[in-house]
Amino acid sequence: MNLVSKDILGTEQLTREEIEGILDTAVSFKEVSTRQIKKVPTLRGRTIINLFFEASTRTRTSFEIAGKRLSADVINISASTSSTVKGESLLDTAYNLEAMNPDLLIVRHSISGVPHMIASHIKCPVINAGDGAHEHPTQALLDLLTIREHTKQLAGLKVAIVGDIAHSRVARSNIHAMLKCGMDVTVVGPPTMIPVGMECLGVRILHDLEEAVSQVDVVMMLRIQLERQNEGLFPSFREYSNQFCLTVDKLKHSPKNILIMHPGPVNRGIEIALDVMEGPHSVILDQVNNGVALRMALMYLLLGGSSETDH
Ligand code: CP
Repeated sequence: MNLVSKDILGTEQLTREEIEGILDTAVSFKEVSTRQIKKVPTLRGRTIINLFFEASTRTRTSFEIAGKRLSADVINISASTSSTVKGESLLDTAYNLEAMNPDLLIVRHSISGVPHMIASHIKCPVINAGDGAHEHPTQALLDLLTIREHTKQLAGLKVAIVGDIAHSRVARSNIHAMLKCGMDVTVVGPPTMIPVGMECLGVRILHDLEEAVSQVDVVMMLRIQLERQNEGLFPSFREYSNQFCLTVDKLKHSPKNILIMHPGPVNRGIEIALDVMEGPHSVILDQVNNGVALRMALMYLLLGGSSETDH
């Protein structure tokens, strides 16, 4: 399997075959991170630029680790250290970085569409590391990798995605990818956080968390975006938590093998209770662990590798 596009901008553009090929390639890279010397020469001599205009712990670090484990040279640029603070346009920043011949640009920005705009103007591949409320494709792919690792297959699985669906790039990327893989998706949250017409995408809508988790194999909790607390989407944190915080009590009718996920960062006690987050069903740190192998796979595939070749 070879990727059709030069870039990874969203799961909306990926085919099911591409998604499965990416996950299979990621599985083959997992072993590298278990070695004492965690390095393979696959991308030796290649240059990868991490261009992050928004805060990140997991995504930025795991892209950096992934590149280094493949022996690439990885350069990190953040908003505060780029010349955009001096008035340079984003596109000029991208043209100037391209003039230094990088092999891959990884872009995170708070404005939807920025990675797409950069990708359409430069020749080198671009990976979207999260753009506004639009897409976060690498998060969705590592989520699918984590689910598949625990369930062996994706088709037919029932998933609930819970929280601020309207503003979640993680939800959007997961919905596209999960539906393509034959999964059954329910979105759960207060009506103010679920976009009108959402069912047209092929998802079910519920407003009762306990009912939702009694019917699904996987529940993915989303971060309540604290920066939105003044937008009137929910009356107070206490009221939101009463209805939508995943607690042991709300899980009392759920299947015994339910998987509990969260992309992070977590607001402990607001969308997920501490004992659930750290309990036996939680695969939250597995998601973080899989992020490295998944990003290694994407770098490898975008820079010329095929899922069928030995790396
Ligand atoms: N899941 C995620 O994107 O986390 P960061 O914002 O820490 O990268």
